[in-house]
Amino acid sequence: MYKIVDKKLLAPNIYSMDILAPRVAKAALPGQFIIIIVDENGERVPLTICDSNPEKGTVNIVTQAMGSSTKKLVAKEVGDHIKDFVGPLGKPSEFIHEDIEDLKKKKILFAGGGVGVAPIYPQAKWLVERGVEVDIVTGSKNKDLVILEERFAELTENLFIATDDGSYGFHGMVTNAIDELVENQGKKYDLCVIIGPMIMMKFTSMTTKKHGIPSIVSMNPIMVDGTGMCGACRVTVGGETKFACVDGPEFDAHQIDFDEALRRQAQYKEEEIKKDHEYCE
Ligand code: FES
Repeated sequence: MYKIVDKKLLAPNIYSMDILAPRVAKAALPGQFIIIIVDENGERVPLTICDSNPEKGTVNIVTQAMGSSTKKLVAKEVGDHIKDFVGPLGKPSEFIHEDIEDLKKKKILFAGGGVGVAPIYPQAKWLVERGVEVDIVTGSKNKDLVILEERFAELTENLFIATDDGSYGFHGMVTNAIDELVENQGKKYDLCVIIGPMIMMKFTSMTTKKHGIPSIVSMNPIMVDGTGMCGACRVTVGGETKFACVDGPEFDAHQIDFDEALRRQAQYKEEEIKKDHEYCE
């Protein structure tokens, strides 16, 4: 059993939780994820890691209550326990294997959308702690849904917050913000890491391709069991079939068949809605 030691409401329906899981906290690297099972009747839910603290033995996750399992999770309070908390899983971000001095010469842009801004935090933090400068763009529907602003602001002065309705920061989507940075502010980037809803990753990848920026996406959104057994996370990358949970979750954004991934992501929609209704009843 894994104890919840901190819980905060970040935005409507979006919670930050610190879970006591010392071994995971010690081993977690940027880009990896965990699997939780909330209780004895729970399903496996893959979630991204937002931060980890090896000294305290805690792992920070940011969750939007969307389906029955995540609703059960966010209903738990500090002092409650989660049945299983397994990880870290998946391959870490490739840049952690690069020479730091080479990385310091690069200009890296992080582009996060919705709750997908959470997993860009540990990656950007890892780089900044090693002296690599990063720019960060976050996208939300409106001001109320902007999360983790303070944490990102500690990492870089170049934080660009975009809201679809213009209620805070830049008026527009992440794609518009990247156009603004590249076309109007003359920014040049050697790499863009894109994490967010599948549709956001598709269009942001098209935008970075247009600007000639090599890009990485994290295919967490299509994972189901997270262990290479269910097959739900099959994704076509450069014409080859890959499993997001064991071969990724990060892949070359410009090689992904996003339309296929979007179809695959929707394949369990009916079952998810049914389960959600059962939980709400
Ligand atoms: Fe089931 Fe990858 S999530 S095989």
